Amino acid sequence: MIVAANFKINHTRESTANYLEALNLFLDAYSTLCDVRVYPVASSFLRADLYSHVKLGAQNFYPIINGAYTGEIGAQQLNEFGIKNVLIGHSERRVALKETQELIAKKYAFAKENGWEIIYCIGESKDVRDGGFESVMEYLWSEFDGIDINYEKLSIAYEPIWAIGTGVSAKVEDIAKVLDTLKSKLNDIPLLYGGSVNTENLFSILSLKSCDGALVGNASLDVANFCKLIQIAQNVQKQ
Ligand code: 13P
Repeated sequence: MIVAANFKINHTRESTANYLEALNLFLDAYSTLCDVRVYPVASSFLRADLYSHVKLGAQNFYPIINGAYTGEIGAQQLNEFGIKNVLIGHSERRVALKETQELIAKKYAFAKENGWEIIYCIGESKDVRDGGFESVMEYLWSEFDGIDINYEKLSIAYEPIWAIGTGVSAKVEDIAKVLDTLKSKLNDIPLLYGGSVNTENLFSILSLKSCDGALVGNASLDVANFCKLIQIAQNVQKQ
């Protein structure tokens, strides 16, 4: 089970360090089987090897080692911190930052070349959702253009845009339908759900047969709450 915290633009370098220290101490004592990942703001990166129970990741990078792309970070900067985990395709980058599928595919290929673990994000808008299940799936498959789904370090996060940061997650039945359909074509690739995950809804979401984890925004920002989410994930039994 993967439990991942996407900080987006939250926490300072100091509060990130305190968070990671507390989380690592908790995991040291708790010994969970969960794969716990934290994606802080790039200015708060810390050495990944300081936290033995947590995988530190990058929310973003430009597909280059180093060079002339003002404001971006590349492999050289991630390597300095030993970061080998990345998010790609998050809807906030697709929509607000206008990342095209072409750029996303380049980032994906670069991450793969570097052997990084990828959480690849997909998700439909409210408009697409209103068009019904078939249009949702058609849209989601289109977000795989140029993406090598045979990469062994790939997980996929299904994050419906309309459920992100709204406090209203998708209905469990709807999540199940999408994840089951994805699973039928994507075989063993771990599938995560994201979008207003919290301590109330996590258990039922993770109990779904095709759900292998959660990508959490708001509810991950408080370390005690994130630890609760990990405990909930640990208690989910799958046959
Ligand atoms: P929220 O959990 O705040 O809805 O954010 C979800 C998300 O976008 C994680 O990547």
